[in-house]
Amino acid sequence: MKVFKTKKELNLYFKKFRSKNTKIGFVPTMGALHKGHLSLIEESSKENDITVASIFVNPTQFNKKEDLDNYPKTLENDLNLLEKIACDVVFIPSVEEIYNNTILARQFDFDGLENEMEGKYREGHFNGVGTIVKKLFEIVLPTHAYFGEKDFQQLQIIRKLVKKTSLDVKIVCCATYREANGLAMSSRNARLTLQEKEAAAIIYQILSGVKDKHGKLPLDAVHKWVLEQFENQPLFELEYFTIADEETLKSTPNISPEKTYRAFIAVYAREVRLIDTISLNS
Ligand code: PAF
Repeated sequence: MKVFKTKKELNLYFKKFRSKNTKIGFVPTMGALHKGHLSLIEESSKENDITVASIFVNPTQFNKKEDLDNYPKTLENDLNLLEKIACDVVFIPSVEEIYNNTILARQFDFDGLENEMEGKYREGHFNGVGTIVKKLFEIVLPTHAYFGEKDFQQLQIIRKLVKKTSLDVKIVCCATYREANGLAMSSRNARLTLQEKEAAAIIYQILSGVKDKHGKLPLDAVHKWVLEQFENQPLFELEYFTIADEETLKSTPNISPEKTYRAFIAVYAREVRLIDTISLNS
């Protein structure tokens, strides 16, 4: 496994390997790797000649400094895990390498996708994500890039970014990797207590309940049921729950048979923010 810290080293390495037909799979991460990330890398390894992972905690996508400061950093363990699953290349740039002296996000227009859900609660977050993903795509020049379904809004925004900027990369969506109790894997889970981790099974249970009720109950009854699940629930506070059109990500007041929908949820366990989603059509 090759580990590079600079664009120059990475480019030099790729000069030898890149040809018109080389399939390069890319998995951008912020580290604190878990089985969900590893499943993306395995998927990429199956489909590509070379798989590149990046580890970079991107400052411009955090709207709260304490969230950035508290983001788990486990580089040595991450590199061991990547070595074990035979990832070919790891890119671990410094903040200076990526941003020089200007740590600023570019402003994007994602046709409104950035204003829904996470966009409402994490101001500027998707400008930061768009900025770093575009920069990394331009450095790595992947043919394929892999993202988890858990961050479905991010996935749709990256698809839009690729379309609008004519980047030549296929975006691959990989199923959410879950703990045995259904909790979606996330680097943030490391900040949960054992009790919270066990109780967090409720998040996916609620989403599964919503899927069962979808099409059988009116939307407002489904919303009411979700709110009821959080009553007398001391460990979790609901930030938002919505059923939205998969294309526009807009909350829907009614269901149309021509469209596909998803339920999205964001929950706090103390200061730890957890998100999850489920398709209501597949
Ligand atoms: O999903 C993440 O871990 C990050 O948002 C990403 C895509 C690596 C950009 O920093």
